[in-house]
Amino acid sequence: MYSDKVLDHFSNPRNVGEIPDADGVGTVGNAKCGDIMRMFLKVDDNGVITDVKFKTFGCGAAIATSSMATEMVKGKTLKEALKLTNAAVAEALDGLPPVKMHCSLLAEEAVKAAVEDYMKKHPEAVID
Ligand code: FES
Repeated sequence: MYSDKVLDHFSNPRNVGEIPDADGVGTVGNAKCGDIMRMFLKVDDNGVITDVKFKTFGCGAAIATSSMATEMVKGKTLKEALKLTNAAVAEALDGLPPVKMHCSLLAEEAVKAAVEDYMKKHPEAVID
């Protein structure tokens, strides 16, 4: 039911933790299951995400999708990160069971919330 990639990212999640002096932090939750995801970004002067970490209090699919999402946005520009979709994260994990697709949405929303937080704190930043 879960792909090898999902199990791998669940068992060995990448980029777990916090960035104490993060440039952008996004926290999102799903009211139905109660799971919470927080994403931390470090961004350089060119709008490139140089570091990203996450903390997820949630199900295995939420952990696997946050882990994959961090790998997908690291080294990308903020503009590229905003284009990340939950479908792309799920696809990169070789798919998720339909009942678990909402978990990948949390990963997309956490990335977007962190980028929006960065933009709020850095109104001078040009993201394209
Ligand atoms: Fe809620 Fe997975 S069950 S995020």
